[in-house]
Amino acid sequence: MKAVIIGTGYVGLTTGVCLADIGHEICCVDNNPEKIKLLSQGRSPIFEPGLEEILKRNIENGRLTFSGDIAKVVKDARVIFICVNTPTREDGHSELKFVEKVAKEIALSMGDDYKVIVDKSTVPVKTAEKVKETILRYSTERTHCDVVSNPEFLKEGTAIADTMNPDRIVIGSDSKEATELMLELYKPIIDRTGAPVKIVSVRSAELIKHGANTFLSIKISFANLIAEVCEETDADAIEVLDAIGLDERIGKRFLRPGIGFGGSCFPKDIAAFKKTMEMLRIDNALIKAVEEVNELAWRRFLGRVEKELWVLDGKVIGVLGLAFKPDTDDLRNSPALKIISELLSLGAKVKAYDPEAMEGAKLMFPEIEYCVDPYQAAEGSEALLVCTEWDEFRDLDVKKIKEKMLVPVIFDGRNLWHDVDMKGLGFRYFGVGRA
Ligand code: NAD
Ligand code: UGA
Repeated sequence: MKAVIIGTGYVGLTTGVCLADIGHEICCVDNNPEKIKLLSQGRSPIFEPGLEEILKRNIENGRLTFSGDIAKVVKDARVIFICVNTPTREDGHSELKFVEKVAKEIALSMGDDYKVIVDKSTVPVKTAEKVKETILRYSTERTHCDVVSNPEFLKEGTAIADTMNPDRIVIGSDSKEATELMLELYKPIIDRTGAPVKIVSVRSAELIKHGANTFLSIKISFANLIAEVCEETDADAIEVLDAIGLDERIGKRFLRPGIGFGGSCFPKDIAAFKKTMEMLRIDNALIKAVEEVNELAWRRFLGRVEKELWVLDGKVIGVLGLAFKPDTDDLRNSPALKIISELLSLGAKVKAYDPEAMEGAKLMFPEIEYCVDPYQAAEGSEALLVCTEWDEFRDLDVKKIKEKMLVPVIFDGRNLWHDVDMKGLGFRYFGVGRA
């Protein structure tokens, strides 16, 4: 089936390469000419494990093409995905101007054949209705289309696996014709994986996405709250949360305490959901509390650093991990960057290392020293902070780290080495939620 994907970020690009890989004819569009140039050469502008290989394979077999021009490509497509960014506006609303712009551009060039416009960007409830209104406003009288909501649940770092083996596929559609086309599109994945398909109303689909991200954020903030209680009572959050999570009704995943959730999604999506509730005059205290606990997570971690080191002015601090989570180069809302910003304002000298995110960080923090490996970050430092739990840090030679450091103090913001006897190895070691 011919489909067009508009927006080639984490979601659009992953969707595009995966749909091409299961046999569809896909054109990915972006208004960033640099991205289109790179992608046309088979190079991915983002670090996402496994993505570049599928990208190259599908360019070579002719199923995947790229364009900078919506007008040129939408006419021939049966399905058009909107995958543009929907950041938070200053007032907390979702910024929907990119979605509106794309809807208008589609409308002006889509022709008269039936098409399904798919809203894959994460948007507040009732946005699809606005997209449909926009399309009808700018298209011809003969335009025949439906707008469906097909929220995306992939995680950065495992985006390809999540797309190829989804927990569920949600199709929010008020039209039989549109639903059938969406089922045809996803058929190879549904047949191979047996993934449940939820066909729901458009509004429900939009709410499923905001609801899922809000629930996951609640779990993480709960874990961070338990961590705080454990720190104050000399209990161990890993033991406590592990046992809580064994209850099947609760589940172990997303109960890891740390320096808080970051990324482009949880902070933005719960802010948008909070705004939706505010506009509906529904009490959003739960979401406010989740945000407060999340903010406190990295501040409490920094507080422990300050308590231990006393004066930070002039001290050399090594930081391992800059990305908001491992296996991505994404720095959006990364707690590591919030911590670095505070360390710098307190006069500390920061030496940082991240396997994939240093190029992006250099643009934001040119004043810090970027290291070739974790050992260089440890060299001469008076504390080492683990901010992202990259696998490559797990296997470090911690004895060598100790030799390199001026003072062997580790603040492990992700409990990466919780099962290593760091004290026995001669470190002062602080995990999260642990005595
Ligand atoms: P992104 O910022 O990485 O990518 C968005 C892309 O859209 C950019 O390449 C941008 O150049 C392009 N774009 C913007 N306006 C355009 C226009 N008028 N014409 C053509 N291209 C345009 O964003 P993302 O992380 O891929 O997220 C996209 C949406 O998907 C958001 O709503 C997000 O909440 C949602 N989402 C993201 C993830 C994730 O893990 N990143 C997961 C699920 C859902
Ligand atoms: C999240 C959701 O997991 C996806 O299902 C969703 O599609 C996506 O947002 C989105 O809507 O964009 P993502 O942000 O890529 O995915 O990454 P997560 O693995 O969810 O991690 C988010 C943040 O939470 C990271 O900073 C991570 O370190 C933190 N986290 C996660 C914890 O602190 N503790 C945990 O137990 C889990």
